[in-house]
Amino acid sequence: MFTAKILTLFPAMFPGALGHSLAGRALQKSIWNLDIVDIRNFAKNKHKTVDAPPFGGGAGMVIKPDIVSDAIEASKPHSKIIFMSPRGKKFNQKIAKSLVQDASITVLCGRYEGIDQRVIDYYQMEEISIGDYVLSGGEVAAMVLIDACVRLLPNVMGNCDTTNEESFENNLLEYPHYTRPAIWNTPDGEKITIPEILTSGHHKKIKNWRLEQAKNLTKARRPDLWEKYNKNNK
Ligand code: ADE
Repeated sequence: MFTAKILTLFPAMFPGALGHSLAGRALQKSIWNLDIVDIRNFAKNKHKTVDAPPFGGGAGMVIKPDIVSDAIEASKPHSKIIFMSPRGKKFNQKIAKSLVQDASITVLCGRYEGIDQRVIDYYQMEEISIGDYVLSGGEVAAMVLIDACVRLLPNVMGNCDTTNEESFENNLLEYPHYTRPAIWNTPDGEKITIPEILTSGHHKKIKNWRLEQAKNLTKARRPDLWEKYNKNNK
């Protein structure tokens, strides 16, 4: 079973979003396992101190290396340790796919100004960022990463074909979706219909139309992906 181990100072934030919808149902069905380790349990004094001011001065507090290390050693992860950090490699679908190949992952969530660099280096942590913005901690980022991983596990998605058609497969953004009613009366009295082809019953034509839509969207919105798509489909 795929296990995600989270090391955090805010264990109450979990399972959070991971306890709902697809990931939550899969968690209930024991398709994956979420193991939360409270770093504060490894504090050494009665005040449960986990951080200290940075050497060299400056704002904020830094999480102590000995405490993080004790939390890691106690939970003995036999997996790579991922450190959620805005300095890390930018997360994407390809990384999610590679992470679920492992039986387990350990995710360290930072808070405050950061974590002592020595512990990051010692455990050769893989730093991953979910984008170029700064969150108040790694917990939400860890949820993003784990959600993207868990839905790729076998038997998590109801319809297994869906992952093959969604965005970032084949470097194409996903085509637009429509459902009932076929004529939607908008709040300002407009009647908006759906593309006619979708009710034609011609599966092959629909497939082609969707591919064209996906290509047009990708070309317009994501020239970087469009370039990759064209390289791979020469
Ligand atoms: N922690 C704070 N900001 C982050 C980000 N953008 N990605 C991952 N972890 C973070």
